[in-house]
Amino acid sequence: MSNTQQAWSARVPEPLASERVELKARKVSFAWEETPLHWIPDDPFATHTINVLHLLLPAGERWFVHVYKQILPYIKDEQLRADVIGFIGQEAMHSQAHDEVLPHLREQGLDPTPYTAQVDWFFEKLLGDRTLPPGKARKWWLLERIALIAAIEHYTAFLGDWVLNAEELDRRGADPTMLDLLRWHGAEEVEHRSVAFELFMHLDGSYKRRVRTWGLAFTALVFLWQRGTRFFMENDPTLDDGRASFKEFFDRGRQGVLPTAGAMARSIPRYLARAYHPSQEGSTEQAVAYLASSPAALAAEAREKGAA
Ligand SMILES: [Fe+2]
Ligand SMILES: [Fe+2]
Repeated sequence: MSNTQQAWSARVPEPLASERVELKARKVSFAWEETPLHWIPDDPFATHTINVLHLLLPAGERWFVHVYKQILPYIKDEQLRADVIGFIGQEAMHSQAHDEVLPHLREQGLDPTPYTAQVDWFFEKLLGDRTLPPGKARKWWLLERIALIAAIEHYTAFLGDWVLNAEELDRRGADPTMLDLLRWHGAEEVEHRSVAFELFMHLDGSYKRRVRTWGLAFTALVFLWQRGTRFFMENDPTLDDGRASFKEFFDRGRQGVLPTAGAMARSIPRYLARAYHPSQEGSTEQAVAYLASSPAALAAEAREKGAA
């Protein structure tokens, strides 16, 4: 081990407990015919705020996979390499599963193409490979994107933990298929929440880069999310005057159908703390328990066994 690596290993926070699980992609599929447009009954705003996931994740998670495939040759730790390969498999499946909701939205009169075209541009062009010469600049851009993914994964784990515990959605009679999609995905986000951060620490770990890329990721997420919610509200064919506001967001947080602004604000200093490790967030035990009972994950397992 080099001196630099030794210095890092002394500073890099360790996971809270030995929580390592073998990451595998579950080949789920969902039938959307029965899912109503407002799958949280009588709450188009909360429905559409969560629906933004279906717009951001297909392109976003495809981008994760694209970047991670390029980084594989630089990973010197075999366990981490196996985790990254498992992560790639899970994210590819997440991207596909959310993408498959879009035709259902179109059938209900809500065509998201004008918005998804912008999201595609954001991930494929703005955050794409660029035509950089091999060497320093290309490596810098790759590390920058690795750090961005670590910051985004802080939020996917946050949201995963939230949705696994959002009992108010059950009380409101939210559509069970949509809840299973969100909780299957959320549980896998909690399950693999340490991978992106550990990869970032393994390759670079610069605290300045962590702060800078968190700022970028957070700003982009807030910008894209509020824009996506407004897009859905304005284009929902069942709403006469569909609008979105931060006030409604805060209200729904208080009601328990969206994350609270306070919980989101408190998650910021946690990520920026030098002692941060993603294992401090959420519960692997809860995630694994959900995956053991998720209708879609169980059906995928049965199909796999049947094919074997
Ligand atoms: Fe994901
Ligand atoms: Fe993830």
